[in-house]
Amino acid sequence: MIILGLETSCDETAAAVVTDDRRVLSNVIASQIEEHRPYGGVVPEIAARSHLAHVDRVVRQALDEAGVAISEIDAVAAAAGPGLIGGVLVGVTTAKAIAVARGIPFVAVNHLEGHALTARLTDDVPFPFLLLLTSGGHCQTLIVKGPDDYARLGTTIDDAAGEAFDKTAKMIGLPYPGGPEIQRAAVGGDPKRFPLPRPMRGAPGCDFSFSGLKTAVRQTLDKLGHAPDATDVRDLCACIQAAIADSLCGRLKPAIAAFQAAHPEGTHLVVAGGVAANTHLRAALTTLAKKSGLVFVAPPLPLCTDNGAMIAWAGIERLKAFGGDALDFKPRPRWPLDTEAPKARGAGVKA
Ligand code: KG4
Ligand code: ZN
Repeated sequence: MIILGLETSCDETAAAVVTDDRRVLSNVIASQIEEHRPYGGVVPEIAARSHLAHVDRVVRQALDEAGVAISEIDAVAAAAGPGLIGGVLVGVTTAKAIAVARGIPFVAVNHLEGHALTARLTDDVPFPFLLLLTSGGHCQTLIVKGPDDYARLGTTIDDAAGEAFDKTAKMIGLPYPGGPEIQRAAVGGDPKRFPLPRPMRGAPGCDFSFSGLKTAVRQTLDKLGHAPDATDVRDLCACIQAAIADSLCGRLKPAIAAFQAAHPEGTHLVVAGGVAANTHLRAALTTLAKKSGLVFVAPPLPLCTDNGAMIAWAGIERLKAFGGDALDFKPRPRWPLDTEAPKARGAGVKA
């Protein structure tokens, strides 16, 4: 089976061609970062218009690079939420049009499920596994039991980890997106120079919190009494990166205990989402998994941030499990993976 996957839910217009025997034939990503950079974050209206301008070309390029004619595609999947609705509509409408024109199934994929199942595309990870899903909009721990079968253990009660990277980077004067900038700037920095908090350390449950980190970084900058010089920036970035990785690992410990108690047969810890590209975090998670007797899997970098291959793969898994979706499927700006999970309580809760 050959499937085309479209991703347009945030600031990447992406399309990929993937086979059900785990071959990524193409994975084209047109980033809008330069269009949003002057505003220090993603502007929804700019994103929607840019997706519309680029989606046809990106799909064409994905087919060409895969060496596959559109007549050879067996199904088409699109990220149908959660995300910025203008962009989601562009991808979903394009995918539906291709499905109608070709008479093939359309699959509506949850963007988060795309991230969640990537480790099955790359490493054939067996269900159930424990997932840390950490991106610009989400920060959750989930037990992944199968397509559309998730148990959420924890979520953020305020900001997502990627948001903490992006917002603190902005305070320091680094460009958007902040995560890769902070990682680059932190090289050689002293991760102990500025004391930054590890919110919710030891608290009951598995939830995360990152808003205190923003305040602490603001206060640290104020206390310096001068514009940060190159050494200050390097050290502060190292401290931020260490604090975020430490917080994620600290809050993952009770999640690992809960996973192992509920599923003694479970063998894998998986990280996914844009923040999973962070090398310091990957190293910390490798150590934590080893200590916990779990195999650690992190997707290769281009499959961590938003891409079409993850949508195509999740589309394959969904198609095999449930068949295609109706052509009147309505995109969902909000679409939790675990619909039974209790609503998290805190300021600015998103999931
Ligand atoms: O999954 P993603 O591409 O889009 C969302 O669905 O949010 O994640 C984007 C987030 C941004 O917050 C970005 O700063 C962060 O992932 N990110 C990183 C790194 N690369 C991307 N954060 C830390 N270190 C990185 N190397
Ligand atoms: Zn994402």
